[in-house]
Amino acid sequence: MSKLRELEKPASYVDLSRALNRPIGAVAKAASWLSEKRLVNITEQKVLKASLGAEGLAYLEMGFPERRLVEALVKLGGAPTLEKCRESSQLTEQEFNIAVLWAKRKGWISVDREGPKTVLKVSKYPEKGIDERAVEKISRGTSHLDELGRDLREACLELSRRPSVVDIIEERIHLLEITSTGRTIPVEELGREEVTQLSPELLASGKWREVSIGRFNVRAPTPVVFAGKKHPLQKLVEAVKEIFVELGFEEIRGPLMELAFWNFDALFQPQDHPAREMHDTFYIKSPDRGRLPAPSLVQRVKSVHENGALANSIGWRYSWSKDEASRLILRTHTTATTIRHLASHREPPVKVFSVDRIYRNERVDWRRIAEFHQIEGIAMERRATLRDLMGVITEFYGRLGLTKIRFYPSYFPYTEPSAEVRAYLPSRRTWLEMGGMGIFRPEVTLPLGVRHPVIAWGLGLERLAATLLELEDIRTLYFNDLAWVRSLPTTYLENILRKKDIVGGG
Ligand code: PHE
Repeated sequence: MSKLRELEKPASYVDLSRALNRPIGAVAKAASWLSEKRLVNITEQKVLKASLGAEGLAYLEMGFPERRLVEALVKLGGAPTLEKCRESSQLTEQEFNIAVLWAKRKGWISVDREGPKTVLKVSKYPEKGIDERAVEKISRGTSHLDELGRDLREACLELSRRPSVVDIIEERIHLLEITSTGRTIPVEELGREEVTQLSPELLASGKWREVSIGRFNVRAPTPVVFAGKKHPLQKLVEAVKEIFVELGFEEIRGPLMELAFWNFDALFQPQDHPAREMHDTFYIKSPDRGRLPAPSLVQRVKSVHENGALANSIGWRYSWSKDEASRLILRTHTTATTIRHLASHREPPVKVFSVDRIYRNERVDWRRIAEFHQIEGIAMERRATLRDLMGVITEFYGRLGLTKIRFYPSYFPYTEPSAEVRAYLPSRRTWLEMGGMGIFRPEVTLPLGVRHPVIAWGLGLERLAATLLELEDIRTLYFNDLAWVRSLPTTYLENILRKKDIVGGG
């Protein structure tokens, strides 16, 4: 209090805690006590603070990638080819791409085609830009955006859009200002000092009867702590697994590097199927072939492809190649793992699921990534039907709070009938495609020795996460943006699931 009287301007808890050399919690407590007595006013202010992310620190140390690029270009004589520059710039693949993008955007370089080659040319040797100065400024500890000039402030905001260069966090600051009563009230009238902690001495001596004991104020502001927490995607994986376990399924896992045989052939996917092509599937260079399973099984799969043999079908009518089936790939769906399991579990009931990683050779953008996860499962039961399948899927999404589910006819080479599931997204008022499903064809089950219907599904995990978390860009899940993870409440997913549950609970 007396300290406050000395002050001319409103002071923050941080300032006061420094001036009084007391913990910030104690200051906050005293402040709320004083404010209840109307001796001080507490006002809350929001300030934006900037700090350097991992990339930002690297930029500070080594220079912005676009600057490093221009420097490399100059060293290479000013107009090298893209490849030449990529090799000698000492930038990583990712940095290089970022560098070209920004150098172009800033008008530092031009990218021209000369015949078959792409040539990078320096347009101007850049002076230090406002964004570069902003990074330096932040590194020197000036982090309140309000304290920066307008240009620097805008540069910081702009930089916060580049992944982990500058993180902007909103902080609430409490300012204390003494009231006129506070200024004039005699110190003696502030009353007896309050005891905030009962000690053995107070108890033993009976003194606790005389002192006045402070009440708990559970609303008193406290310093912000970033409690350790799991990444929201990890939490969703756990929630999904829990649901299937509750529904009586067991988890299975399988290799990421898989034989084309399990990924495609055992699933009755013909060897000239477009999904098997290089631009959809990642093939392993070395070793490029693996060992096929038992010859009898291979033989049965071969004849089913060639003439439908066992399955009362006519097959695909081509000559099936063992060599093609023994190629190694990164699995393109978790159905490869399912089918491996099925081959050694032929008697019902079989109820298994997996939530696991898959790979597709895709151009990455805001809704597609090349490495992601599927939620996969099957149930084999003597009389399983499409109805059961739709029931499981509806129940699964229902438990996640997505209660409006629709099924559409679809096609997969390994299921008949096949369907696609869509979930309704209230926030965007659209139906989102979530995955595929169906009943395995006899061409798939019979060569394995499975004689009962198997209902199967493969659903997108990232799609689901983006839906629940209402993300614009699916890559947000993989940016490793610590500021984003921190900004989410610890019970983020739980809150969403609970809320949706109430909304859709009827
Ligand atoms: N494997 C399919 C996919 O990757 C999904 C699916 C699984 C479809 C099981 C039917 C049965 O899209």
